[in-house]
Amino acid sequence: MVIGNDTLGYPILVCENAEPSLRAFVRARGRRCVVLADAQPDVAARARALAARLPRCLGVLPIALGEPRKRLATVEAIADALLAAGADRATLAIGVGGGVANDTFGLAAALFMRGVTYAHVATSLLAMLDASIGGKVGVDTPAGKNLVGRFSDPVAVFADLQALRTLPFREIRAGLAEAVKHAILAGGESFDMLEMLAPHRFERWPWGEVVARSVAIKAAVVRADREERGIRATLNLGHTFAHAYESASGYRIAHGAAVALGLRAAGLLALRGGLFTREAHLRVLALLALLGMPLSTRVPADAALAAMRGDKKRRDGSLRFVLPDEIGLVHADVRVPDARVRSVLHAMEAPPGDAEH
Ligand SMILES: NC(=O)c1ccc[n+]([C@@H]2O[C@H](COP(=O)([O-])OP(=O)(O)OC[C@H]3O[C@@H](n4cnc5c(N)ncnc54)[C@H](O)[C@@H]3O)[C@@H](O)[C@H]2O)c1
Ligand SMILES: [Zn+2]
Repeated sequence: MVIGNDTLGYPILVCENAEPSLRAFVRARGRRCVVLADAQPDVAARARALAARLPRCLGVLPIALGEPRKRLATVEAIADALLAAGADRATLAIGVGGGVANDTFGLAAALFMRGVTYAHVATSLLAMLDASIGGKVGVDTPAGKNLVGRFSDPVAVFADLQALRTLPFREIRAGLAEAVKHAILAGGESFDMLEMLAPHRFERWPWGEVVARSVAIKAAVVRADREERGIRATLNLGHTFAHAYESASGYRIAHGAAVALGLRAAGLLALRGGLFTREAHLRVLALLALLGMPLSTRVPADAALAAMRGDKKRRDGSLRFVLPDEIGLVHADVRVPDARVRSVLHAMEAPPGDAEH
């Protein structure tokens, strides 16, 4: 099974097994290639299995990753490893791994010898339906996440669904939070499908369809606004709250869980500002609950608000949010008075109840 998407001008292939498509792609390019792999054992094993079948492959370079290693020092080490492996400007670099691999390998490829072509094989759900779509690459610095980076399109993206078999449950959930976000942006069948699947065990989900739909939603938004000057900001739905909860909890709340909290908070904020309907909001909450996502937090409202005030999305003194209007219609850059944000953050300290309005 392969579901293709070329909305962004390069192939994004959702594959049960990426190996045949990747091999065909490399053969058609007729160039040497080199494989950069997240050194996590399951991912590195997958990368070696893929590389074994690739023509003119210089080998597999395992690179220790994880968010703390998403740094310029790692980019430098990758450049040295590429040179040592014999890569030159004509070599196709193929990265295998999750979102951290996408961002770090993608930036290294964009900089190595002033730029070599790059293809990504996504092995985490989040990388498949979010991080590898849209051409953003970059690394963190001590001062900020993704602070150093650029827009740099890959030549191809492969979602390797078989890799999901070794992906831990909490990482599946991280990806699903973004899938729910995409489904709120698109509405219609995308949202219905997640509602229908949510009660079933993940092993039985048609992942190809789930990933392909989510990819299509993100790719369409990115295509309309590649450099994030307008509509692409809607992809940040729930994320102003999410970043505040991550930071105020000292990063004990994982990104996916924080996004789920952020989706409830954005829904509440919309409701209290006269957008969205209670019925639509409750539908979103029911879906998140079925998927096992948290809906309330012990992070105090004041701590979350303080974190939010430090967020870069604050302009001219008032907070701005991406808010849902309907399932299928989301607005960016909505100004909201601080008092309303504070009341929503207070509501988030308790589970949803009758007062969800
Ligand atoms: N570029 C973008 O547009 C964009 C968008 C969203 C997120 N991101 C970035 O993506 C990163 C998060 O991505 P992520 O959640 O994939 O993190 P990740 O790459 O760190 O992967 C999560 C964990 O799963 C492991 N893993 C990956 N695939 C596996 C597999 N098949 N089997 C077993 N283990 C596996 C990884 O080693 C890691 O421990 C963040 O740094 C974020 O900033 C980028
Ligand atoms: Zn996110």
